[in-house]
Amino acid sequence: MPDEFLSEARLKAALGERPFRFHEQVGSTNDLAQRWALDGAPAGAVVVAEEQVAGRGRFGRTWLAPAGTALLFSVILRPQIRAERLARLTMVGAVAVAETVMGMAPGQVRLKWPNDVWLAGHKVAGILPEAIWLGSDLQAIVLGIGVNVSMDFAGTALADSATSIETVTGQHVDRAALLAAILGRIDAWTARLEEPALLETWRGWLATLGRRVTATAPGEQIDEQISGEALDVDDSGALLLRVDDGSVRRIVSGEVTLAD
Ligand code: BTN
Repeated sequence: MPDEFLSEARLKAALGERPFRFHEQVGSTNDLAQRWALDGAPAGAVVVAEEQVAGRGRFGRTWLAPAGTALLFSVILRPQIRAERLARLTMVGAVAVAETVMGMAPGQVRLKWPNDVWLAGHKVAGILPEAIWLGSDLQAIVLGIGVNVSMDFAGTALADSATSIETVTGQHVDRAALLAAILGRIDAWTARLEEPALLETWRGWLATLGRRVTATAPGEQIDEQISGEALDVDDSGALLLRVDDGSVRRIVSGEVTLAD
């Protein structure tokens, strides 16, 4: 059951002094946040939409969510961080969502490398970080997050892979309060971006480690599929995979499916 629709007033009540822009319908909140970031939006500013008509996921995929059933937002961050450590922002988003959803469904939340949030074994949220560069200077990161809140995926093509918080918990979720809680965790972890605790916490949530997986790594012409045992992640967030000839491959970007 969709909750009451979001509004400026509800978001203002939940977000307090945080700068935000709310739209009933947008192409992609990430696009609006990028423009706002270039116009000087402060760190922590957030774009929220009730519906996206061109929502995007990783690797140029479409991100679909019927109006009112999801929490769709993009938060602008302005971290001082080297390019090779940008995966830390993905960790911030994934850990922030996982910690927040865990409060509603204890013991049922995991992460699938690198940044899918799982609830009861199905994807409940995805994260799309996008960096804005001026030459070699990082201007901002737009952290786009979509959380399935009330969508019932039963009978849809995604029934086996996706779920929503309300489907699992049977409890109504106030999306404005959910947003405020996730943003609070994002603030807290952004302040600890370079600390080992962020990597350790993210690693602790990963369902992938120790499992046999198939990683799909994007290639220039075709994607490469690599199967093996997920041994660990390294400091930059890359997945270390022991492949069948015994060597260890470092997978920097891509996604994994669990083989068992
Ligand atoms: C993924 O799992 O592939 C990432 C999905 C990210 C979706 C969110 S919804 C809000 C923001 N705006 C977008 O266009 N995408 C992200």
